Amino acid sequence: MKNFKLIIALVVFTSIISCNDKKTRQLQYMPDMYESIPYNADGAEGLGGEPVNSKPVAGTIPRGGAPAYDIPDTIEGYELAKTTLKSPLAKDEKNLDNGKEMYTIYCLSCHGKNGDGQGYLATSEKFAGIPNYKDRDLTEGSIYHVLIHGKNLMGSHSSQLTYKERWQIVQYVEVLRTDLLK
Ligand code: HEC
Repeated sequence: MKNFKLIIALVVFTSIISCNDKKTRQLQYMPDMYESIPYNADGAEGLGGEPVNSKPVAGTIPRGGAPAYDIPDTIEGYELAKTTLKSPLAKDEKNLDNGKEMYTIYCLSCHGKNGDGQGYLATSEKFAGIPNYKDRDLTEGSIYHVLIHGKNLMGSHSSQLTYKERWQIVQYVEVLRTDLLK
């Protein structure tokens, strides 16, 4: 009986949190899967009514000199980033090399060495739905946008990376994708 009450309390609590969180982001998340990943993050930071994931971006300014990213985490925002957002970095070996290094640390576990979606979290079946980059219509803007805001089961990586590192990863992902499409 005690447990039962606890469960009810948790369910009610969770649904209250869920309602709040969905205010700005209901189009982006699939709350029926892996609830705790987005909601924990949101619960910690989404109190001001602003898009939750913009906070880590602001936090990275001192470290990486990142301009604030104000494209919202919506379907329209995704399209806007995809069609208009361009990398400020030169396409050169130095950026690519560092992109590879950062990709290896932050992305490879899911997306795989080649970007085919066969990282060990995928192959060990700990994580589902990781795409092969070649099956997605990506641009440098859309990749950056997803890196900032996350997408469905993929969380935001903005707080772990400087502005420059993010764009370096984007550059590397584009190269992986081009190779996969060959
Ligand atoms: C914990 C696993 C995980 C990690 C780590 C991860 N991703 Fe993802 N990623 C996913 C999943 C799952 C999707 C599919 C999201 C969807 O479309 O539902 C995805 C999708 C993507 C897409 C396609 C988005 C689109 O527009 O369709 C890109 C690009 C991407 N990830 C880049 C990255 C980069 C760059 C990193 C490292 C900074 C990274 N991911 C780290 C799980 C992960």
